[in-house]
Amino acid sequence: MQSVHHWTDELFSFRTTRDKGFRFASGQFTMIGLKIDGKPLLRAYSIASAHYDDELEFFSIKVPDGKLTSRLKDLAPGDAVLVGAKATGTLLLDSLTPGRNLYLLGTGTGLAPFLSIVRDPEVYERFEKVILVHGCRQVRDLAYRSKLADELPADEILGDLVRDKLVYYPTITREPFKNRGRITDLIASGTLASDVGLPPINKQDDRFMLCGSMQMLADIRTLLEGAGLSEGSTTVPGEFVVEKAFVE
Ligand code: A2P
Repeated sequence: MQSVHHWTDELFSFRTTRDKGFRFASGQFTMIGLKIDGKPLLRAYSIASAHYDDELEFFSIKVPDGKLTSRLKDLAPGDAVLVGAKATGTLLLDSLTPGRNLYLLGTGTGLAPFLSIVRDPEVYERFEKVILVHGCRQVRDLAYRSKLADELPADEILGDLVRDKLVYYPTITREPFKNRGRITDLIASGTLASDVGLPPINKQDDRFMLCGSMQMLADIRTLLEGAGLSEGSTTVPGEFVVEKAFVE
């Protein structure tokens, strides 16, 4: 463990060292855990850091009485964390057919894989616009907000691309905010596309990556399939890809 950051009583991020041989594609996850009573306890965590960073970063909720997260959250720099030797996952640019706009839709800690993707220059080569939507209950749950809204656009290397192409769209369901409502409702009503200045969502131009709860994924899948989009994989690319936000 290199560092820990507590966003709220329920959300924290941590960074670990990265083995020189550990490789991953933006959007993938690995196993993270601790040895508890001599036995490894591991859970899947999306990698939130960029593929070129020296450290690995993860974004987690603190599950009340959760076996792993209740211990992880109390760790301090220098404490040992188990990090898987491999990364895997479905949120891959290569699983999407070419398009104009890439919508990254995450709720809660489902933001994590997209933090890696929006720092990958390749995403800006493939898409004209990248729309990062983060749905949370309350404003204080919007972890990484100032990084996404302020720091990334000012980044020495990525800033130009980000200012030109990335739209960060946080949305809140349980208190007043400039953007309000569930991602599903914002898609169904057309509000999301019109708020970011794009035409209504369509199969020709729009590609999607989803990361959230099972219900969120199921509901958005229904919407996208209803619009004629189909799920992609590494063997057969499609218009959207889906990953469960693991630690819930
Ligand atoms: P809501 O407040 O209406 O439940 P959670 O903290 O439960 O993981 O939720 C994170 C965000 O995801 C909340 O804004 C929540 O809205 C929203 N959400 C929950 N279920 C769905 C769903 N099925 N589709 C879209 N958004 C959802």
